[in-house]
Amino acid sequence: MPAKPIAALALLLAAAPALAQTQTPLERGGYLVKGPAACGQCHTNPAPGSPELGGGMRFAELAYTAVAANLTPDPDTGIAAWSDADLVNGLRNGKRPRGSLIGPPMPIAAYRGLSDGDANAIVVYLRSVKPAANKTARSGYRVPLPDSYGPAVTRVPEVSLADPVKYGEYLAHSVAACMQCHSRPLEGGGADLAAGLGAGGQSARGPAGAAVATNITPSGIGHYSDADLKKVITTGVRPDGSKLNPAMPYAYFANMSDADLSAVVAYLRVLPKR
Ligand code: HEC
Ligand code: HEC
Repeated sequence: MPAKPIAALALLLAAAPALAQTQTPLERGGYLVKGPAACGQCHTNPAPGSPELGGGMRFAELAYTAVAANLTPDPDTGIAAWSDADLVNGLRNGKRPRGSLIGPPMPIAAYRGLSDGDANAIVVYLRSVKPAANKTARSGYRVPLPDSYGPAVTRVPEVSLADPVKYGEYLAHSVAACMQCHSRPLEGGGADLAAGLGAGGQSARGPAGAAVATNITPSGIGHYSDADLKKVITTGVRPDGSKLNPAMPYAYFANMSDADLSAVVAYLRVLPKR
């Protein structure tokens, strides 16, 4: 009598999008910032006692020494003066209110695809964070930044949760920036999201030094079960017990819902092998 479980599954699937929509923007924003978007991986200083999203972390690379900004609503040192539209524009187009460009390693190329609802939810959450007075140093870029990250993004429709592969693609590209780190580096910066999609090869720097992102197409991770993959993404521990470099924000990914992790895994499974 297979009809019963199938009916139950259909009900569950039908309920999934509705569930997400019952979150308030504040709840949704908090989930994204502390989960898949992992803003704090860069914007919360790992030194004990540092304020949430207070900024100050330095990223020293050959091409730049960048300092993560203070994202708290502090009037003097944070983002209190930015309007909601300024913040959404900053996230998706990498432009500050006066027009200067937000540089790497902030993954603007990924956030260009953040949906209107999710970008707004992130802004709502940032407004709710405890203001922290922390004046951060200026970033220095030894290579010229481009004039823009591309044509201005003004509207991105919501991605339906009904199709896990599509939703997983959205999370992996535009929210968690998996594909920015895990796709082959382009000469001159950025990631090759076409021929090099998921092929690995970018170096990523975390609190414990640099590591090279691995191939996450089926040729790299095909031997992992879904459970293995979820475990490695959320704990940084491989099935053989070896530990990943914390350049990958697995402590944040640990806050992802199981449905979102399943969607990301479903997307990785259908990537062309590289
Ligand atoms: C991989 C590291 C990284 C991640 C992840 C990251 N950022 Fe950033 N962000 C930076 C750095 C570094 C800067 C400073 C860049 C510069 O000085 O041009 C920055 C700058 C910014 C700015 C500009 C602030 C100002 O005062 O100029 C905003 C707004 C911002 N980030 C928001 C976010 C939000 C929201 C998230 C999560 C959705 C996020 N960032 C994720 C590294 C990161
Ligand atoms: C800031 C860059 C960065 C981001 C963002 C990132 N990763 Fe990674 N990831 C890495 C690096 C670097 C490694 C290799 C770490 C090591 O070798 O110790 C890795 C390792 C992995 C592994 C282990 C592969 C293996 O061979 O054991 C998987 C699976 C993985 N990442 C999936 C993901 C997924 C899915 C996402 C998004 C939800 C993601 N990563 C986001 C940098 C990143």
